[in-house]
Amino acid sequence: MQRSYMFAGAFVVLFVGIIVIVVVCVSSMNGWKEHNADGPKFWEQGGVYQVYPRSFGDSDGDGTGDLMGVVAHSDHLKDLGVVTVWLSPIFKSPMKDFGYDISNYMAIDPIFGTMDDFERLVASLHRNGLKVVLDFVPNHSSNLHEWFTKSEAREGNYTDYYVWAEAKDYDKNNTPIPPNNWMSEFGGSAWEWSGIRGQFYYHQFLAEQPDLNYRNEHVKEEMKNVLRFWLDKGVDGFRVDAVKYLVEAQDLNLDEPTDSDNPELLHHIFTTNQPETFQILREWRELVDKYHEKVLMVEVYSEVEDVMKYYGNQSVPLAHFPFNFFMLEALNNRSTLNGYALKDTISLWLDYMPEGKWPNWVLGNHDNGRVASRLGKDMVDALNMVVLLLPGTPVTYNGEEIGMENTFISWEDTRDPEGCRWGPDHYQEHSRDPERTPMQWNDGHMAGFTNGNNTWLPINANYQEINVAAQKNATHSHLKFYQHVTEIRQEETFKKGKVTFPTYDDSTFSFIRSLEGHPSYLAVVNVATVNRTVNLHLGANFQLPDKAEMVIHSSTSVAKETPSGSTVFLDSLTLVAGEGVLLKLPED
Ligand code: GLC
Ligand code: MG
Ligand code: CA
Repeated sequence: MQRSYMFAGAFVVLFVGIIVIVVVCVSSMNGWKEHNADGPKFWEQGGVYQVYPRSFGDSDGDGTGDLMGVVAHSDHLKDLGVVTVWLSPIFKSPMKDFGYDISNYMAIDPIFGTMDDFERLVASLHRNGLKVVLDFVPNHSSNLHEWFTKSEAREGNYTDYYVWAEAKDYDKNNTPIPPNNWMSEFGGSAWEWSGIRGQFYYHQFLAEQPDLNYRNEHVKEEMKNVLRFWLDKGVDGFRVDAVKYLVEAQDLNLDEPTDSDNPELLHHIFTTNQPETFQILREWRELVDKYHEKVLMVEVYSEVEDVMKYYGNQSVPLAHFPFNFFMLEALNNRSTLNGYALKDTISLWLDYMPEGKWPNWVLGNHDNGRVASRLGKDMVDALNMVVLLLPGTPVTYNGEEIGMENTFISWEDTRDPEGCRWGPDHYQEHSRDPERTPMQWNDGHMAGFTNGNNTWLPINANYQEINVAAQKNATHSHLKFYQHVTEIRQEETFKKGKVTFPTYDDSTFSFIRSLEGHPSYLAVVNVATVNRTVNLHLGANFQLPDKAEMVIHSSTSVAKETPSGSTVFLDSLTLVAGEGVLLKLPED
């Protein structure tokens, strides 16, 4: 009896052991791959394209982009070869932070159009095989939301909808002193006094963006209703704004510690990444999972260990992915860009990502400068190639596919509150307007953005050269390159293959995608600011073949006449400054 138990026990141990070995082998082959029995989810099949609706297309001539303007350009979205279109906020808003201050979560702002327009837009994108993701801004509403007005007046359930606190004290002029030292992301105290209520309210961003109180059950339910409302309208998921700020420490008398090197700097241990935030995210994930194939991508700028927590784990999944902003942060300007930095930044994500999760790569957005201006016009194609061909979801901000550049905005024309609050001498270091100017469609009236004569932000003077129509007609252009790479991405190797990094140094970066039974590809980037002939064998981490076949090269390349299919030698590959090439390796 006992022996048969022992035998059964040994058998179980052996069996579990084999399972563990198999699981470890499979996952170490493909640690980044989420194994879906029912095939890849839509966000795993191609890129996310961020539309900043104010600046995409203006259908009614008022100078601000709108929903029908997006419909008008749905061909462009389709032709790009992306899968998902994420719309920055389109909801009713006083526009203090250009839509990130919402006064009605279930209504479309008239500047963008009507609910009918929205339904037309979703139908049109879906008809084109594209998915639609909305921007969900749960941390704060507008101060003009009726919830806030009612909360300020202490009306019933609304009383605790926001984070209210007594003054810590009053100074000699009888001015109330905030309860703690917490700072707003946009600068200054995060506390604003309400004379009406006789209390402070907390705002991580503008005073016109009061933080909602996620310790209140009604608030949690209201926000779930917002998610259900849009899911029931057929949207395919959400980009969740500023999620690390959702919950604050319960004790509002706690000061955040100051940095020992820089007393101006606080360690945000009470205002970011609080344990309760993950519980709320978990409830949202459960909610969206009740629908068929919906995505949650969350915005978190934090240390990598903290960012990774937003993935959750195998048993408790949270976001499908937190945005990977490390490329944005590490590759802030050309002097920070070298082959090691690129390799390390990519590995950072792949190494820290929890087992079985799905990576993503962000090169730009409405809060960060344009790639061409940060890193150089010559790098646009190479970097698009890198993010499009690595395992995971590439995220492209509108205009990056044509290499749009930061636009100089005078102090008079500055609109971004983050710029405005710094005044005429310093706004340029902080303003996000330069990357938010209208999309450049053609070289005609107002770059094809509007029929009107004014635009909410000026159009970049370079629109005559840099525009969609010109790049569509050119043989070689950023746009053509982008489209070509999204096509290549459809190959099995890029969908399922592993990634390795053969050669990288100060000036060179490269990676290989390979998959058993399919062709292997080698991507090479010259990150230097000079033309070079590169020997990829030199310092390679493993053996490379002698030659390979040209698939595609940057539109800036001198090798424009090197047709795809021609042979190149890996010990003497000539690349112009910033050039990226994709090569097909010979099958051995
Ligand atoms: C996010 C948005 C940014 C906005 C902020 C406050 O960071 O991307 O544009 O200002 O949240 O909502
Ligand atoms: Mg308009
Ligand atoms: Ca908050």
